Amino acid sequence: KTTAAPPSDGLAVLESRRSAAETFGIPLAVLAEVTHRCPLQCPYCSNPVELDRGSTELTTDEWKKVLGELAELGVLQIHFSGGEPTARKDIVELVQHATDVGLYSNLITSAVLLTKDKLSALADAGLSHVQISFQGNEPVVADRVAGLKDAHRKKLEVARWTRELELPLTVNAVMHRQNLHQLPNIIQMAVDLDADRLEVANVQYYGWALKNRAALMPTIEQIEETSRIVEEAQARLKGTLAIDYVVPDYYALRPKKCMGGWGRQFFNISPAGKVLPCHAAESITGLEFESVRSNHSIAWIWQNSEAFNRYRGTGWMPEPCKSCEFREVDFGGCRCQAFALTGDAGNTDPACSLSPRHEEIFKQAEREAAAHQDRFIYRNFAGGTLETDDRQDER
Ligand code: SF4
Ligand code: FES
Repeated sequence: KTTAAPPSDGLAVLESRRSAAETFGIPLAVLAEVTHRCPLQCPYCSNPVELDRGSTELTTDEWKKVLGELAELGVLQIHFSGGEPTARKDIVELVQHATDVGLYSNLITSAVLLTKDKLSALADAGLSHVQISFQGNEPVVADRVAGLKDAHRKKLEVARWTRELELPLTVNAVMHRQNLHQLPNIIQMAVDLDADRLEVANVQYYGWALKNRAALMPTIEQIEETSRIVEEAQARLKGTLAIDYVVPDYYALRPKKCMGGWGRQFFNISPAGKVLPCHAAESITGLEFESVRSNHSIAWIWQNSEAFNRYRGTGWMPEPCKSCEFREVDFGGCRCQAFALTGDAGNTDPACSLSPRHEEIFKQAEREAAAHQDRFIYRNFAGGTLETDDRQDER
């Protein structure tokens, strides 16, 4: 077995890092979106609709410099994500470099490009954890949602290799109207794969998912049933499988504390090197994001850049958030959703029942769910491809 090497200099280094991170308020974990390239075409992808082209991606040396800087700043964990991170030929080299500078690394992958040798090389390079996305529990639904034939079989295979290599495994299942009926079987699949954790993640509606909202939005009855199934499974599988559950916020009374609050606990780095407060932030037009290619350090960008400070804390809030007792609980919800649904990221997230737009938007979503328009717009560099009728007939 090869597991992640702990940061080389042990506890003393961890302690000094922690204090550096506290000084800057830097998050302990960072998401590195190393590419937007991906063989899958999931219609709910959280990447921006305008994807970064391969030619704009940071080079191997640029990513290595970023990883070194993050380690110096006190970051402890790096999530390699995308797109599909293994679409980069240098992914093993990047994981090895993360290990060398003392970062724990997690691979967030669709798995379909991995061979057993590649996964083994990643383990040898010190990879600490693997998270595989699943689109269903069987190929008919799962491959259709992924927009790729044979994807589901490949994912199962890679999940088994992951456990053979004794790497911890998380199953990430993104749920929506067209696969929620499979949830009990997905839970059982995660148990059978010997996963440590299952994320039951209801689609969040911005970027590609907003384009596909009518095809993805669950009905109220589905959400009620899902909550019941998850609660039952959490109790039954305690100690065997940890189950995280994200409620779809159109059906919640109050919005989620997105990213733990803008610029408070999280940042990510886009394929082209932009430092972003969340993975969807580039969907907000009118905000300029600094790049790791600029002369500024990442710490400076985190602390001082306009984009991070615009919606940090509570000073920016309009009513009803401004005088609301929950303003430091949810920080006004999600800026990207507020922008997508109201055209202004500085508005209260309409997922909040106190938002003046909540009722109207919720009713529209409910109508969309009831209409059962099931065709997808697939995510790709062409700006989306409408699922053909032939493809629907294959279901
Ligand atoms: Fe949160 Fe604003 Fe809604 Fe209050 S009004 S619950 S702070 S989103
Ligand atoms: Fe961007 Fe919620 S996804 S703030």
